[in-house]
Amino acid sequence: MHVAARRTLATMATSSRMRSWFPTTSYPLVVSAPMDFVTNPKLATEVTKAGGLGFIQGGRDFTPSSPVLRKLDDQLTQARELLLGSNPENSGSDRPLPIGVAFVMYAPSAAHFADTTLPILLKHRPAAIWLFAPAPSAPDTLPNTLKALRLGFKSSSSSEEEWTPKLVVQVGSVAAALGAAQHGADVVVAQGVDAGGHQSAVGAGIVSLVPEIVDALAGREVAVWAAGGIVDGRGVAAALALGAEGAVLGTRYMVAVESDAQDFKRKAILSTADGGVNTVKSQLHDHIQGNTSWPSVYDGRAIVTPTYRDQLAGVPLDENTKRFNAAKENGDVSRMVTWSGTGVGLIKDELPAAEITRKVREGALKVMAGLKSAL
Ligand SMILES: Cc1cc2nc3c(=O)[nH]c(=O)nc-3n(C[C@H](O)[C@H](O)[C@H](O)COP(=O)(O)O)c2cc1C
Repeated sequence: MHVAARRTLATMATSSRMRSWFPTTSYPLVVSAPMDFVTNPKLATEVTKAGGLGFIQGGRDFTPSSPVLRKLDDQLTQARELLLGSNPENSGSDRPLPIGVAFVMYAPSAAHFADTTLPILLKHRPAAIWLFAPAPSAPDTLPNTLKALRLGFKSSSSSEEEWTPKLVVQVGSVAAALGAAQHGADVVVAQGVDAGGHQSAVGAGIVSLVPEIVDALAGREVAVWAAGGIVDGRGVAAALALGAEGAVLGTRYMVAVESDAQDFKRKAILSTADGGVNTVKSQLHDHIQGNTSWPSVYDGRAIVTPTYRDQLAGVPLDENTKRFNAAKENGDVSRMVTWSGTGVGLIKDELPAAEITRKVREGALKVMAGLKSAL
């Protein structure tokens, strides 16, 4: 068979796999990333209503008294209410909820996941559950959590309509992708170092990371999504060409009308160009805010501020922190942290999340049609 024809068949197969896993979505699959302090039920459901897959961030505190888990319960109730009416298929309370929920797993309280968090998921039945950033010092966290989720779904599915949420694990290396697949992930998000926010401290961009992970997982029932630096249809088309079956966009959705991102973050994103130079991967962005809880294998990409320039000039962390706090107290936002991917220079407007989703998807289809016509 001609290579192009084989590729077309492969594309059709992957497109139908995502459509069967997430029946409310359209091809190609555009996913809005879970983002702490940014995503909310309105944003996620608008993405879903537009044929993408919206995620909310469920937090990292799994203790029995966790206020974050109470908030998650409320947010999932709210998401179902927001979807009511738009599609009768989503409205029944026993129907799977066509958005995803994500968790950051490095905290020791992740050991409580099955007791404190699983019941909330069983109650709301989200379409996907996304895990990220287990602590290297607790290698059982990921396998135990994936196992608890599988057992939980199995026991809850007998009486009600079938519900098989997909288990998504975000990784930054081929080895981590193989580990996630081995422990039962349905989807591996290949997060490249162009990504905004937290990520593996060392790694590759998606141009090499995605195809190497796709090849490593060949023959397994595991889909790969690409994340990191994708902000428009061109990026999505490129991700598909690399073998991904979905594209995850974070920074682009930070300036969605519905996002919780504060004004200073929106302004920083809209005014920053040349993201490879004007964003930087560092642990400084956490440490300057007094957050030393992330394991050192992770860092975060954010827009360059005077804080980073001071560090480069040799200002010690104590003094730099004083400057950061003084600016904050004075209402000077120039030192505030804005997590952002390198694609920031391509983001020119604040749009409703549904419009971003449609525009990105249609842009990708246009690019693919253009490439096909050039054959
Ligand atoms: C503001 C912000 C917050 C984020 N928070 C999370 C998070 O809580 N959990 C998570 O798994 N990923 C988080 N990420 C990373 C995203 O999942 C995704 O990998 C990234 O946004 C993709 O790169 P892009 O921003 O260039 O699109 C965050 C990203 C940003 C920009």
